[in-house]
Amino acid sequence: MRRKVTKAVFPVAGLGTRFLPATKSVPKEIMTLVDRPLVQYAIDEARAAGIKEFLFITSRGKSALEDYFDESPILERELRKKGELDILEDLKATNMESGAIAYMRQHKALGLGHAVWCARRLIGDEPFAVMLPDDVISAEKPCLQQMVEAYEETGGNMVAAMEVPREKTSSYGILDVKEDMGAMVSVKNMVEKPKVEEAPSNLAVIGRYILDPAVLKNLNKLKTGAGGEIQLTDAIAQEIDNTGVYGYRFRGQRFDCGSKAGFLQATVAFGLARDDLKDDLRRFLDSVMQIENAAE
Ligand code: UTP
Repeated sequence: MRRKVTKAVFPVAGLGTRFLPATKSVPKEIMTLVDRPLVQYAIDEARAAGIKEFLFITSRGKSALEDYFDESPILERELRKKGELDILEDLKATNMESGAIAYMRQHKALGLGHAVWCARRLIGDEPFAVMLPDDVISAEKPCLQQMVEAYEETGGNMVAAMEVPREKTSSYGILDVKEDMGAMVSVKNMVEKPKVEEAPSNLAVIGRYILDPAVLKNLNKLKTGAGGEIQLTDAIAQEIDNTGVYGYRFRGQRFDCGSKAGFLQATVAFGLARDDLKDDLRRFLDSVMQIENAAE
C-alpha cells in the first residue's frame, strides 16, 4: 500500500516584490480574490485532497497570515446575535484545528527549494504535497485531488503541468518529456527557467507538487541554481532516475495571482462565477468594453 499524502507545505516566505507597495504591509497570500484571501483557496483545495497537516514556511512581516487562521470569538458572537448564520458558517470554515497547522520561519529568502527544505523535520519520511498559494486553480475537481488520485497509481514524484506559449517558457520550470500518456507524462529532464530557444518543450510546471521525501535529502546537498536561489526543480530532477518524476496535465484553469495581470483576470473570473455578483459584474464589463471599443 502506498502511503497517503496527508501533509502539505505552503511556502509563503517570498518577498512579493511584484505587488509592492501593497506587500509592504500585506502578505501576498492574504490579498483577496472576491472575498477570500488567496491562501483560503489553497487550504480548501488541500482539504479536498485529504491533507490533514498544513505546514507554512513564513518570514518577517507575515503575522497577518498567522492571525487569519485563529478563531474569532467576538466576530462569531456578533454574527450569531444578529442571526447572520451564513456568514458565520463561512467564517467558521476558516478556523484551523489546534495542531493541524504549523509555521516555520525561513530566515533568508534563499529560494523555493530552501523554503521547502525548512519543513524537513516535520515531514519526516513520508510523501508530501507542496502548494504555492499564488497559483489559484479553478476546477470542477480540485487540482491537488486530481493529482493525489493519479499519484495512487504512479507513486514517485508528481508535478502539475500545463502548456504555456513558447515565449513564456523562460518564466517556468519546463519538462523534457520521455513518454506522453495523455493526462500524464513521464519526465526525462526538468529545466528551471530555460532560455526560450533552449526550452525542451512548452510543458511548464506550476505550483502543485507531490514529492517523495528523497527530494528533501537532495535539497540537503544542493547549492544555489538558476537566479542564485536553491531551486526545487533541481532537487526533483535528481529523482528522475530514482523514484521517478511525472508531469500531470490537470483539468482546470490556472491563474497566476503572483502577477498583477493574473490577479485581475482571476478577480473577474471568480466574480463571474458567483451567483450573487455575476449579473452586475457582466453588465459593468459590457459597458466598459463598449466605451473601449467606441474610443478605438
Ligand atoms: P515567487 O517567485 O513568486 O516570489 O515565489 P515572491 O517573492 O513570492 O514574489 P515576487 O516574484 O517577488 O513578486 C514562488 C513561491 O515561493 C515562495 C513564495 O512565497 C511563493 O509562494 N518562496 C520563494 C519562499 O517561500 N521562499 C523563497 O525564498 C522564495
